[in-house]
Amino acid sequence: MSNYHIKHLEEYFQVYRKSVQHPEAFWEEIAEEHFVWRSKWDRVLSWDFTKPEVKWFEGAELNITENCLDRHLPTKRNSTAIIFEPNDPQEEAQHITYGQLHERVCRMANVLKESGINKGDRVCVYLPMIPELAYTVLACARIGAIHSVVFAGFSSNALAARINDCDCKMVVTSDGSFRGNKIIDLKGIVDAALEDCPGVEKVLVAKRTGGKITMKKNRDYWLKPLLNDAYADNDAERMKAEDPLFILYTSGSTGKPKGMVHTSGGYMVYTAYTFKNVFQYREGDVYWCTADIGWITGHSYIIYGPLANGATTVMFEGVPSYPDYGRFWAVVEKHKVNQFYTAPTAIRALAKENLEYVEKYDLSSLKVLGSVGEPINEEAWHWYNNNIGHGKSPIVDTWWQTETGGIMITPLPYVTPTTPTYATLPFIGIQPALMDEEGNEIMGIQVDGRLCIKFPWPSMARTIWGDHERYRDTYFTAYKNNYFTGDGALRDEVGYYRITGRVDDVIIVSGHNLGTAPIEDSINEHPAVAESAIVGFPHDIKGNALYGFVILKEIGEARDRDNLRKEINQQITEHIGPIAKLDKIQFVPGLPKTRSGKIMRRILRKIASKDTENLGDISTLLNPEVVKEIMDNTL
Ligand code: WT7
Repeated sequence: MSNYHIKHLEEYFQVYRKSVQHPEAFWEEIAEEHFVWRSKWDRVLSWDFTKPEVKWFEGAELNITENCLDRHLPTKRNSTAIIFEPNDPQEEAQHITYGQLHERVCRMANVLKESGINKGDRVCVYLPMIPELAYTVLACARIGAIHSVVFAGFSSNALAARINDCDCKMVVTSDGSFRGNKIIDLKGIVDAALEDCPGVEKVLVAKRTGGKITMKKNRDYWLKPLLNDAYADNDAERMKAEDPLFILYTSGSTGKPKGMVHTSGGYMVYTAYTFKNVFQYREGDVYWCTADIGWITGHSYIIYGPLANGATTVMFEGVPSYPDYGRFWAVVEKHKVNQFYTAPTAIRALAKENLEYVEKYDLSSLKVLGSVGEPINEEAWHWYNNNIGHGKSPIVDTWWQTETGGIMITPLPYVTPTTPTYATLPFIGIQPALMDEEGNEIMGIQVDGRLCIKFPWPSMARTIWGDHERYRDTYFTAYKNNYFTGDGALRDEVGYYRITGRVDDVIIVSGHNLGTAPIEDSINEHPAVAESAIVGFPHDIKGNALYGFVILKEIGEARDRDNLRKEINQQITEHIGPIAKLDKIQFVPGLPKTRSGKIMRRILRKIASKDTENLGDISTLLNPEVVKEIMDNTL
C-alpha cells in the first residue's frame, strides 16, 4: 500500500530510488496490490532494446475493464464515473455512475460481438466526445478487440489511411458532431473514407445531431436499437498482459502515420499509478482533462487512468470559446472540478481574452492544474498560476508522448516545488538521459542534449503496427540501448528537466503533433507546385504555426497567388485536416539545399522566424544565392 500514493518530497526520492534500483520488485508490488488479475505473471520484465522487445507481466491474464469497472461495483455502483458536459450549456449534463457505465459497456460489448467482432480484430472509432466514445473504447477492451480511435477532426483521406493501415473490420461513428456553433457531418466523412476501405464490413452509427445522413444497406446500422436489444451483462475476455489493447496513430517526421501499439497489463498499471500521483487524486474529487479521446492524453487520462482509480472524470464535448471564452471556467464552477488538465495553446488563447471571463466564476474547488502537449511558456504559466490557480494550486507541467503511454517527467503537486517552464523530475521508475550528437550520455548538471530513456517502463508502446523495423529505426537506433524521444532537453543545477522542443521534423501546432513530410506531400500534389518545404515559426496562441516555402511549376507562375494559397490549404484540409493548414505561404524560386540534396530546414526555420542574424555558414550549400532571395521576400 505504502508506495502507491506519494505525499512528500523525501518520500518521492525514496520511492524513486527503490524504483530504479529494483524496478521489477517495485512494479511487482504496485501491480499486485492495486489491480485485479485473472492469473499472475511468470516474469515481471524481460527486455532488449536492440531488438527491441519489451514485455511486462508476461504470463499474467487480466481484463483492463474489470479493473476500470467491475471491481468498483461493490463500493461505487452509485458513484459518478463520467460527467458528460455537452457542447451546448443549455443541454443537461449527464452523471453516469459506475453501475450505469458497466451496464452500457457490457451492452456495447455484446453488440460488437454480435456484429462479428472477435478478439484481436481492429475497430476504428471515429466519434465526437460523447459518452458512446467511452462505451465503445471500453467495450473493445472488454472483448479483446483492438481499438483504433481516430480524432474526429481528421479528414476522410486521413481516416481511410488509418482504417486501412491496421485493417479495421468496423467503424463506429455518429451522424454528426457539435463543435461550438458548428455541426460537422461525420457520417459523410466516413462514407467518403469507406470508398477506399474494402475491409470494413459494418458501420455502427450513434445518433447525436439528428442531421440528415444516408445509411448504406447491410453495412450501416443505428447503434441505439442494437444496444437496447443487447444483454446487459458480459463476461470480460481473459487477456494476456502483452496482448494489444489499442493502436493510436501519431505523425512521424517522414512517411505515413505510425500506429503505436499499446498492450494491456503494463499500460494499466502505469496510467493508473501516474494518474493517482500526478493529480494527487483523492476519493470524491472531480477531475477534468480537456483533451479529446482521439489523442493519447484522452486514452490514458480521461478513460483508463481515472477509471482504474474509481475516479470521477469529466468528458467535455465542446470547445473553450463557446458560447464564450468563459466556458472552461463555467464548467469548473458547475461541476466543482478539483483537478484541471489542459494544453498551453488553450491557456494562451484564453489569456488573450478579457479577465472578466475568468473572474465571473468561482474557481475555489481547484487544487491541481495540469499542462501537457508542448512546452508551456513563462507568460502562459504565470497567467494560469495567477488567474486560475490564484497562486495556490500547483501547476504540473507533464512531459510525455503517444509512444510513452503515460506521463514521464512531471512535478507531483504539493510534493515537488515547481519552476515555470520546467517539467522538473522524472516520474517514479523513469530513467532519463541526455545525449550528445555522438551518442554519449552527458552527465552532470547544467547541461543540455537529446532526451532519451535508458530503461523500460510499463506503458511504453511495444511496436508500430505492421512495421516493427520502423519502430526500431525511429526510436532505438540513434542512441544504442536507449529509447530516443525526438525531443531536446536541459537539466538545471538542481537536476530539473526543461523540455526545449523537437529536434526532428515534427512540428507541434496547438499541441498537435504534425510531421512535415505528409504536409509537403499534400502540397506537392497540387498541379501547380513543383516542390515545397514546411517549417514552424513562433505563434502567440498556437505555439508554432506552419510556414510553407513553395516552388511553382511554370503553369503555376502564371496563376493568381492568393488563389493558389487558398487551393493549397484546401488540399491540405482534404488530405490531413484543418489543423495542418499553413499560416503563411511564400512562393520561392528555389529551396536551400546541401550538396547531397537535403533541404536545409535549419535555414528556413530561421528565415520564417525572422531570426536571420546568425544563419551560420551557407557557403557550403548547393545554391547559396537562393537564401538572400527568400529572405528579401519573407512574409
Ligand atoms: C510531444 C509528444 C503526450 C500528450 C500529448 C502530446 C511535446 C508534450 C510536453 C510538455 C514540452 C511537451 C514533446 C513530445 N510535449 N508534453 N509538458 N513540455 N513538450 O503527445 O502528440 O505524442 O506529442 O509533445 O515534444 O515529444 P504527442
